[in-house]
Amino acid sequence: MKILAIETSCDETAVAIVEDGRHVIISQVFSQIDVHKVFGGVVPEIAAREHLKILDPMVKDCLAEANLSLDDIDALAVTQGPGLIGALLVGVTYAKGLAVTSGKPLIPVNHVHAHVHGAMVEQEAPAYPCLALVVSGGHTNIYYMESPTSFELLAHTLDDACGECFDKVAKIMDLGYPGGPIVEKIARHGRLGAVEMPKMIEDKNRLTFSYSGLKTYMVNLLRRETSPLSTERQADILAAFQEEALGQLVRKVKSSLTIRPETRMVLVAGGVAANQRFRQLMADQVKVAVRFPNLKYCSDNAAMIAGMAYHMSQEVPGLLSNRSHDWDCYARYSFDD
Ligand code: KG4
Ligand code: ZN
Repeated sequence: MKILAIETSCDETAVAIVEDGRHVIISQVFSQIDVHKVFGGVVPEIAAREHLKILDPMVKDCLAEANLSLDDIDALAVTQGPGLIGALLVGVTYAKGLAVTSGKPLIPVNHVHAHVHGAMVEQEAPAYPCLALVVSGGHTNIYYMESPTSFELLAHTLDDACGECFDKVAKIMDLGYPGGPIVEKIARHGRLGAVEMPKMIEDKNRLTFSYSGLKTYMVNLLRRETSPLSTERQADILAAFQEEALGQLVRKVKSSLTIRPETRMVLVAGGVAANQRFRQLMADQVKVAVRFPNLKYCSDNAAMIAGMAYHMSQEVPGLLSNRSHDWDCYARYSFDD
């Protein structure tokens, strides 16, 4: 079964065609980072306009590159939320139009849940039950999963998301956007232990994340430093910051495993999953099998949307025969879990 999926929730326009939820025929991602980075972050209105310019040509290009026509596609899928409302509306409205004119079913997909499928496409099916850690610019969630479509929320952040914290720290240090990859690159040259960093929410029994305290600690620490920082000092500070930003994730995964000892695998997904130090810490400290996505499926992409939609189509009765499209992406729909 071939699904053509569309993702426009933030600053990446993405289109993919995926067979049976796992085999990626084509996956294209157009990043808008160059247009947004002069503002130090994503500007929602600009994001929506950029999606509008490029989405239709991208869908046509994907079909042409894959040597397929819409007739070969069994279903369409689109990110319904959460995300920037203007950006989402471009994708959802376009997808509905395509569904109505082609007569194909259209499957609305939760973006955060779909991230977990980034760790499933082009890989073996995971061993259930598993834990899934979604760690991106907008979310830091741990789910308990008994199937590809069941998501029980075990932990979430009380304030900022982990990736957002990387971005904010990079911003206050004037390092550029997005902060995660830049911080990782600099931290590689830092000495662990050279700078003290407090541990956030250390209590093992509290399954919550928090990143705003870490950000504030960094602001205060940088105020006390002599400016400009030497290259060595900057690397030491960022190595300490990164170790705690990632260490908190590892600690909470370990705590989740103690309350769900039957877990057979941990799936990690979202932009921060691209961090190599994080991959190493998880491999060293987590005692069950840990699965990360291929690098290209960590950050936003449409292959993960198609993957999730395929499993929904297998498990939700009537989903493929429904042609009403009587849903929308407005904020009144809750995507909290
Ligand atoms: O999943 P994603 O592309 O978009 C959201 O749905 O948010 O995640 C983007 C986030 C950004 O905050 C970015 O700084 C972070 O992922 N990120 C990283 C790395 N690469 C991207 N954080 C830490 N280390 C990285 N290598
Ligand atoms: Zn995302």
